[in-house]
Amino acid sequence: MAKLTINDEVREIDVDPAMPLLWALRDHMGLTGTKYGCGAALCGACTVHIDGEPVRSCQIQVREVVDRKVTTIEGIAGRVAKAVQTAWQKLDVVQCGYCQSGQIMNAIRLLDQNPKPSDADIDDAMDGIVCRCATYVRIRAAIHAAARDLA
Ligand code: FES
Ligand code: FES
Repeated sequence: MAKLTINDEVREIDVDPAMPLLWALRDHMGLTGTKYGCGAALCGACTVHIDGEPVRSCQIQVREVVDRKVTTIEGIAGRVAKAVQTAWQKLDVVQCGYCQSGQIMNAIRLLDQNPKPSDADIDDAMDGIVCRCATYVRIRAAIHAAARDLA
């Protein structure tokens, strides 16, 4: 039995402690907003925040997140998250949507750290979160829009 703090709620799940967090989230907690893309740290679709830092949940085991704070796309909150969600909607960023929870989790962290990112900062921070629909131009524009909103 593992006791995890997910989206500010303590949840107990009966899983192998070596299970990747992504599996626990999706298959045992019903948090399917976090996506399985590659399972090999290559796409970023599975990105969640652990103690505020973006982490690929396919690459971390349940036992490694006990006593840490996990936030998934379902649990994002606060001013920065709201600005990012609003910008995403306004600019109609999403195409198929598969990569987007990973993009948004990463974008929130970027704006938390750097409230006025340049194009280069955005490209650097978002590098490795793969979008097969190539929404990168809209993602960049939405991050700038969220930054303006937060200024
Ligand atoms: S599913 Fe985790 S990086 Fe692709
Ligand atoms: S919106 Fe389709 S993979 Fe990114």
